Amino acid sequence: MASAKLLSLNPNQPDAKVIREAAAILKKGGLVAFPTETVYGLGGDATNEKAVAGIFAAKGRPSFNPLIAHVAEARQLEALVVMDDRARELAEVFWPGPLTLILPRTANSPIARLASAGLPDLAVRIPSHPVAQALLKEAGIPVAAPSANRSGQLSSTTPLHVMESLGENVDLILGAGRCPVGVESTILSLTKKDAVLLRPGATTREQIEEVIGPVLQSPGDPANTSAPGQLQSHYAPRARLRLNAKDAKENEALLGFGPDMGVKGGKRWLNLSPTGDLFEAAANLFSMLHELDTPDITMIAVMPVPETGLGLAINDRLRRAAAPRE
Ligand code: TXA
Ligand code: MG
Repeated sequence: MASAKLLSLNPNQPDAKVIREAAAILKKGGLVAFPTETVYGLGGDATNEKAVAGIFAAKGRPSFNPLIAHVAEARQLEALVVMDDRARELAEVFWPGPLTLILPRTANSPIARLASAGLPDLAVRIPSHPVAQALLKEAGIPVAAPSANRSGQLSSTTPLHVMESLGENVDLILGAGRCPVGVESTILSLTKKDAVLLRPGATTREQIEEVIGPVLQSPGDPANTSAPGQLQSHYAPRARLRLNAKDAKENEALLGFGPDMGVKGGKRWLNLSPTGDLFEAAANLFSMLHELDTPDITMIAVMPVPETGLGLAINDRLRRAAAPRE
């Protein structure tokens, strides 16, 4: 299979010439995969219906599943979505960073209808990764970017994952090593009177509540196909997952957490964080699942991860990866 062009960048000091090349591709309607602080995104001009259609095609993503529009600065958002006081306060505290807000589209929003899957709302985010920032500034347009993986599979946290998952379906991959956070952004819906947490991530519910008060938890109804990120089976490796495991059986691999992981059967072992650090565990999550997901492994047994802080986001992704598949 032909593979995409990959240009590697220093994550902290991206080369201006490469950024200009990538921005030019976006402005012409092409697709560029780029790193964010959470996971790699598959970017296209969010105002260009064709580019957006190209994203859905490249991922094999159902067109009812809306995309996040990324911009460099909050002032660019006023034309796209209706920002209320809660949104402005959250923007002030958490942007740029791993938080996505769902807000009503403005009447004349230039964002392609397909990007928001025909919904009256739009997901928006300002990523903090220096490469994402440089690209969005240079392009000057809102960039629709789902995670850079085939629909339903694990998100990509390295350029290699993007290459393996999307290959020739993307015009350019900007590589800048591993994504520091490792799990996708927190998604908060502000379309109703009550704020609702739709996807846990590195910006925690507690942190958000300190700024805007009580936040409801999404009911997580698996039948809610208006946001298939909420579907139960998602972020799935090829091998099955067995959660809350203590050890691994024959033909299984063990994904551990914390200092108590002995060598306990199974074919291979990796530890999300030997010291029990949830930040380290989140950063390792997808790359370790990728690494353990080889043809000789039928099941990945996963040791328990605490249900606190970033552990909520990790467990959310693990449960979806373990959920029954269609
Ligand atoms: O960290 C991230 O958010 C990454 C990076 C690239 O920014 N992006 C990402 O995009 O994870 P994606 O498309 O893989 O996940 C976005 C989720 C999907 O589950 C989608 O259903 C939901 O956001 N979503 C988008 N727009 C929505 C809307 N208007 N209402 C409800 N859910 C929405
Ligand atoms: Mg995704």
